[in-house]
Amino acid sequence: MTAPLDDFALADEFALATESAPLLPVIRERIAAAGGRITFAEFMALALGHPEHGYYSRPNLRWGREGDFETSPEVHPIFGYLWARQVLECWERLGRPAPFHLVEPGAGSGAFMASMLMWLRARAPECFAAVRPVALDGHPNRIADQRATLGAHGFQADHALTEDWLARPEPVTGVLISNEFFDALPVHLVERHGDDLLECYVTAEGDTLVLATGEPSTPAIRERFDALGLLPGDGARAEVSLIAAEVMARLAARIARGYVLTIDYGYPARELLASWRTQGTLMAFRAHSPQPDPLAQPGLTDLTYHVDFTSLAAAAGEGWQSAPLTSQTEALTVLGLAEAMQVASARSHEDVQRYAAERRAAETLSDMSGLGRIKVLAMAKDAPLDGLRCLQPLDIAFAGGRRQG
Ligand SMILES: C[S@@+](CC[C@H](N)C(=O)[O-])C[C@H]1O[C@@H](n2cnc3c(N)ncnc32)[C@H](O)[C@@H]1O
Repeated sequence: MTAPLDDFALADEFALATESAPLLPVIRERIAAAGGRITFAEFMALALGHPEHGYYSRPNLRWGREGDFETSPEVHPIFGYLWARQVLECWERLGRPAPFHLVEPGAGSGAFMASMLMWLRARAPECFAAVRPVALDGHPNRIADQRATLGAHGFQADHALTEDWLARPEPVTGVLISNEFFDALPVHLVERHGDDLLECYVTAEGDTLVLATGEPSTPAIRERFDALGLLPGDGARAEVSLIAAEVMARLAARIARGYVLTIDYGYPARELLASWRTQGTLMAFRAHSPQPDPLAQPGLTDLTYHVDFTSLAAAAGEGWQSAPLTSQTEALTVLGLAEAMQVASARSHEDVQRYAAERRAAETLSDMSGLGRIKVLAMAKDAPLDGLRCLQPLDIAFAGGRRQG
C-alpha cells in the first residue's frame, strides 16, 4: 500500500532542510557591528548559547533518539549505574568524606546524575548519605530540565549556572564528572599555511555565512601550539579549545581534594594534530545526521568537535595528576558492563523485551565505531590515581580477584 503523502516521513526531511534559522540575522548584525567578521569561537558561542535562539539555551531541547544526537546517559541508565561504582570507589579512596560533592558540569537532561544517584541510593547508602549532588549548566532552560528530572526521582541537588558555582569561594572535596561537556564549548578555528598560522573568521556574503582567514585574534592561539610543540599539518585546519582549557582550570581549582573524570570525544594532541587530519574534527549535527556546513543553520544544529585531552589535562594545573586515556568501551567493561550483561542474560526468560533493550544498550555504549570510542581522562588531586577501577586493563580486571562494587 502506498502511504499518503502526509504520512510520508520524507516530507518532514524537506522541511528540515529549508527551515530558516532565526539566529542568522542576529549573527549577521553582530558581524557588521564587529567590523565585518567574528571569530568562529564567538559564532559557536552564539549558535549554541544565544539566550533566546541558541541550540542549548532554547526551551524544549530534545535529547536522545528524539533529538539531534544521542549521548550515553540517554541510551540507558546503566551508563550512570556503572559510573556510580567508580564514584563510590573515589569516595572510599578519599577516606569516605562527608560532605562528598558529586559535581556534573553540562548536566544535559539530568539523566546521568539521576542514574548515578539511583545506584548510590540502592547499592551504597552510606555514600549516598554523604553525597552532595551539584548539577551545573550554562543555560537556565537546561537547569530547569535537570531540576525536573532529579526531582521526579526524589533527589534534591544543588542546581547552578557554572559561572555562579565557579564564583563560590569554598573549595570542595569530591568528584567532578562530565559527559560530552567540553566538546560543546566554543573553539577557535585555525589553518596552517607554511610557517603562518591563520585564524578562520566568520563573515557574511549576502545572506550566507562563510569562513575567511586572517591573523589570529589572540596570541594565546600560537602559545597553545608552542606549549604542545606541535602544529597542524601544512594546509590543514584545526580547532583550538582555549575556552575548554580555561573552564577546566577554573573547575579544577574548585576541587580541594578529589577526582575529575572527563568523558568525551577526543584524542591526545599528537593524534588530534596528526598530519593526515586535514579538516579538523568540527561537526554539525541535525536529526542524527552530519550537516555539510556548520555555519548554515546556527541554533538549529548541534556543533561539536574532538577535545584536545593533552591541553585539557595540562589546564587542570598544580597538584593534579592525570592518567593515560582509556576508552569508554574499556572503562565500562571494567566497571561491570560484562557482568551486568551476564546477570541480564540469566534472567532474560522473565522479560525478553527488557533483555533485548539491555543488550542493545550494552552494544551501543561499547560500540567502538560509535559511543565506545569516547575517551575517559581521569585526574586526581591529593588522592590516589593508580589502580583506579575505570583505568584497570581488561586482562587484569578479568584475571580474578576483582573487587565488587
Ligand atoms: C552535549 S550536551 C551533553 C549533556 C549531558 N552531559 C549528556 O551527556 O547527555 C552539553 C551540555 O553542556 C551544557 N553547556 C553548554 N555550555 C555550558 C557552560 N558554559 N556551562 C555548563 N554547561 C554548558 C549544555 O547546555 C548541555 O547540557
